[in-house]
Amino acid sequence: MHNLRKVYAVDDDKVVALARINLEIPRGQICCIFGESGSGKSTLLNQMAGMEKPTKGSVRIGRDNISTMSERELAVFRQRHIGFVFQSYNLLPHLTAVENVAMPLMFSGVGKAEREAKASKMLKRVGLGKRLKHFPSQMSGGQQQRVGIARAFIAHPEVVFADEPTGNLDSKTKVEVMTMMRTFARHYRQTLVLVTHDEHMAAYADRVVTLLDGHIVSDTANRSSDFATADSGHPQ
Ligand SMILES: Nc1ncnc2c1ncn2[C@@H]1O[C@H](COP(=O)(O)OP(=O)(O)O)[C@@H](O)[C@H]1O
Ligand SMILES: [Mg+2]
Repeated sequence: MHNLRKVYAVDDDKVVALARINLEIPRGQICCIFGESGSGKSTLLNQMAGMEKPTKGSVRIGRDNISTMSERELAVFRQRHIGFVFQSYNLLPHLTAVENVAMPLMFSGVGKAEREAKASKMLKRVGLGKRLKHFPSQMSGGQQQRVGIARAFIAHPEVVFADEPTGNLDSKTKVEVMTMMRTFARHYRQTLVLVTHDEHMAAYADRVVTLLDGHIVSDTANRSSDFATADSGHPQ
């Protein structure tokens, strides 16, 4: 992110949600965007993922400047390169667990049988082998979020964005969910950008970037992190 600025206009008022953000996240890093409510975390994530256009500045993912892409180009880019995990899970209510997880593979030209076989395998990996045909309403919050994680990671996108993924979960389930995301991201060398206001969750990241009133006020490496920055500059 280069000189990123986001201003929202509300009636005659302006809210500077992001002041002037410069931030580089190396490939494969688990980066936590940390801060209190209203500090600009979601705004930053939405600009990074191309969900919203910045007021000023630019966002680059790999070689692509996503800030200049059209909505159509962005939609294709997101399908190919980006996964999302949401606080409220955002599963499609009329689809089963398997069908929800298989969704991202629809865009890669994989046939239905193969998509669902891959989705079943993914659900087994998140401990939901016995819930394949369940609908979201038939699962607990923690189970729904595990479906959400399986869906975000199934197509092995280079970057996964997660906005308060543990925000609605109890403390035991939070740990399970964070551990799962960490394991997947490490295994496939995916970049994970995680928004949270929970310091226990921040401990799972390699790095914690703290926001306050739309400014980065600190940027620290977690001492226990095993992330090797030395080889992070390799192209894929
Ligand atoms: N769509 C919007 N319109 C106007 N103001 C917004 C909008 N989205 C966020 N804001 C404002 O921008 C600031 C940052 O919000 P947000 O990024 O949601 O914070 P966080 O995710 O850290 O809680 C807040 O003051 C919020 O009220
Ligand atoms: Mg938020």
